[in-house]
Amino acid sequence: MSDAPDLPPKPRARAERVSLWRHMRLFRQDILSAQPARLYRAWMAEFRTPFFRSYLVNQPALVDEVLKARPMEFPKSDRVGEGLRPLLGRSVFLTNGAEWQRQRRIIDPAFEGGRLRDTFPAMWAAGEAAVARIGEGPREIEEDMSHAAADVIFRTLFSLPIEDEVASAVFHQFRAYQRSQPILNAAAFLPLPRWMPRGHRAQTRRTARAIRDLITRLTATRMAEIAAGTAPDDLATKIMTTADPVTGARFTTEEMVDQVAIFFLAGHETSASALGWALYLLARYPEWQEKLAEEAEAALSPGPDFAVMGKLRLARDVFRETLRLYPPVPMMVRETTRPERFRDRDLPVGSQIVLSPWHLHRHERLWENPDGFDPARWQTENGKTCLREAFVPFSAGARVCTGAGFAMVEGPLLLAMLVRAFRFERVAGRDPVPVAYLTVRARDGIWLMASRR
Ligand code: HEM
Repeated sequence: MSDAPDLPPKPRARAERVSLWRHMRLFRQDILSAQPARLYRAWMAEFRTPFFRSYLVNQPALVDEVLKARPMEFPKSDRVGEGLRPLLGRSVFLTNGAEWQRQRRIIDPAFEGGRLRDTFPAMWAAGEAAVARIGEGPREIEEDMSHAAADVIFRTLFSLPIEDEVASAVFHQFRAYQRSQPILNAAAFLPLPRWMPRGHRAQTRRTARAIRDLITRLTATRMAEIAAGTAPDDLATKIMTTADPVTGARFTTEEMVDQVAIFFLAGHETSASALGWALYLLARYPEWQEKLAEEAEAALSPGPDFAVMGKLRLARDVFRETLRLYPPVPMMVRETTRPERFRDRDLPVGSQIVLSPWHLHRHERLWENPDGFDPARWQTENGKTCLREAFVPFSAGARVCTGAGFAMVEGPLLLAMLVRAFRFERVAGRDPVPVAYLTVRARDGIWLMASRR
């Protein structure tokens, strides 16, 4: 951990030179502490393994090239999705090319700005439910935030609170899935040849099936409601009634199940991780927490109106700063489809391109005070430049997170509602240690003392 007492927790980097086998072992434990410190200063790094080459791209212009300029030439690597395929099928998160483009044409309209305003009352209701649910005393706050974020997804997608029997069953099965299915990206970095069978554990497959059965029930019911003209006007209805502007086709129930599974997974694990870290940072820097509580009290007292989002400036900056320091998706992987020349290196076809929000967000040559918590940075010149050029918690370009706008409403709103209601303090001896599982999480959870204001 970091030695400086005023900096938030950062995994200790590994030694500069280690053997491949040691690297693999470290990697299995945690992809963050498996990396050397020089990646916080490098523009690019190469990892040679006996089976494939992997390049970490850590320079804004190169990141833009891959994500924004030529995204179709850098598809997602198959390896990344391996652990998730039993659960996500052919969801938009895993597909590439024409299939992916078609799916985005149907999904994107549901997440446009105007629709966000429509989902706001459901988010507010989930925030109120979280405030009512959280008790006083020492708490593992990640668990609370998972619960709250799952509630947001069910309310906005299916107009159901998490207390609903099916919603609650999906939530619990997802937790089991996450436990049985370790690190998302490990397969993409581990130097295993493609022919080596990796297989999914029986438990993973069983849990995936149980989740998909439950989601199929929700989706089939909704199909029937749409046909009967009785469906509520929420995200699921919007997506299921949108025809592809090119082919005119809509999602079948099966296709919609794949998409619901990814909305649920991508939408609640990530937001929960960010909210948990945000509350920890506010507990660690109480002067910021007090400022935020004041802002929240003034902004939220008029009640649930989308206009409050314009007033939650500090909440937004705190949430942004959290996404910078603890990006829920720490790394992303793409593959080259033709020979590339990046900086002075030739990259063969089939190379893995690793984009690392974790390293880019703490890049020592780009950010002032890269490891410090400073929500005020976003008002400075350096902060504004880096926001444009070196801040990619939601990825960027055509394949940017569909839920980015959604998350930037949900995160600041829930943060403000929680800090308005509670004071959060650190629990002595229980500061969290960041590790990368499916998302960046705390190794032993995030323990905070909650007391009502
Ligand atoms: C703080 C919250 C969130 C963060 C940090 C986040 C981050 C990301 C990132 C980095 C990606 C790109 C992954 C890659 O290309 O390898 C992504 C993709 C995606 N996210 Fe999010 N996400 C968040 C919330 C949400 C929410 C709330 C939803 C939906 C309700 C969502 C749905 C998706 C989907 C469907 C994709 C796949 C897009 C595609 O590949 O075309 N995310 N997210």
